[in-house]
Amino acid sequence: MTTSTTGVSTTDSSSESFAVAAVRSAALDERIIADPGRFRVLTGDRPTGPLHLGHYFGTLANRVRLQRAGVEVFLVIADYQVITDRDSVGDLSGNVRELLLDYLAAGIDPSTATIFTHSAVPALNQLMLPFLSLVSVAELHRNPTVKAEAEAAGTRALSGLLLTYPVHQAADILFCHANLVPVGRDQLPHLETTRSIARRFNDRYAAGADVFSPPDSLLTRAPAMLGTDGTKMSKSRRNTIDLRATEDQTAQLLRRAKTDAERNITYEPQRRPEVANLLLIAALCTGADPAELADSLGDRGAAALKALATEAVNEHLRPLRRRRAELSFDLGHLGDVLRVGNTRANRAAEATLEQVRQVMDMHY
Ligand code: TRP
Repeated sequence: MTTSTTGVSTTDSSSESFAVAAVRSAALDERIIADPGRFRVLTGDRPTGPLHLGHYFGTLANRVRLQRAGVEVFLVIADYQVITDRDSVGDLSGNVRELLLDYLAAGIDPSTATIFTHSAVPALNQLMLPFLSLVSVAELHRNPTVKAEAEAAGTRALSGLLLTYPVHQAADILFCHANLVPVGRDQLPHLETTRSIARRFNDRYAAGADVFSPPDSLLTRAPAMLGTDGTKMSKSRRNTIDLRATEDQTAQLLRRAKTDAERNITYEPQRRPEVANLLLIAALCTGADPAELADSLGDRGAAALKALATEAVNEHLRPLRRRRAELSFDLGHLGDVLRVGNTRANRAAEATLEQVRQVMDMHY
């Protein structure tokens, strides 16, 4: 989660693929609503801590929307991705539990959605071997997101796992034959890797048969959310409003949020990013229009804006937080959810690996 939110700089070619992906996503949305049964979603998160409002409006709410529309959803808790770029992994099992709580509290329904962890699905991980044979080291080095993550890791040497994690991510997607991957912009290069691997596998190892289909990305539409200090909301910057925060903590965080010296509240994202961001948060939570919210505040100043945003966030998250608190008392249930998800994921991965062994003439 931290690395996906590092604000990866984009090159010309990636803005081009972003534009293409944006157009394709809009068209896809219509097809999904018309025929949800044709789609299987896979997406996920690194278990590095609890989710925040940026995750919620960026991806989590969209996953719940897709699930409610009737799309089958697979969610990977990407524990092997946590060890790509850090020496100490932190409280991994605690972080997995927090993530699971956020998913369930937000409305992911484990009776239809499959929530699983990398480390519990050996056949998924084995797919990485044939997949690695289909990409060149030069290609991996060119991946802009990997490059940015390697830079963010500072002086630490680039690990083999960081260099190859886009291939592992291809295994995450292709093991269950997902055809739809809701992602943020920084993940688009990985989707391209997955698409290439699917095509190359079919060409090289399956005589052109459609063993794997290149999946589509479904781009997140929500605008990037800023944290309380006015930079991108991200756990590593300690500027987040976590879903699990209490109402008092939320009030305190927002009271300290950066604004500007102008008393009159206006919605001007370019000129007044911090004020616009608080308006955006309130708007997303209430379904109102940010410019209208600004008008309603007029010259009542930043304190009134913060009070409005606090009220909106607390109101919107109240049911989620209530469910989260209830669920957190039932660790047995959380364990069951993960066991069932891991069992389902193993079944899918074993079937896919079996098919891969067959077409690769490795069936003895
Ligand atoms: N890399 C993603 C992130 O950091 C998490 C992830 C792991 C993922 N496997 C995936 C996303 C497969 C989409 C598809 O947010």
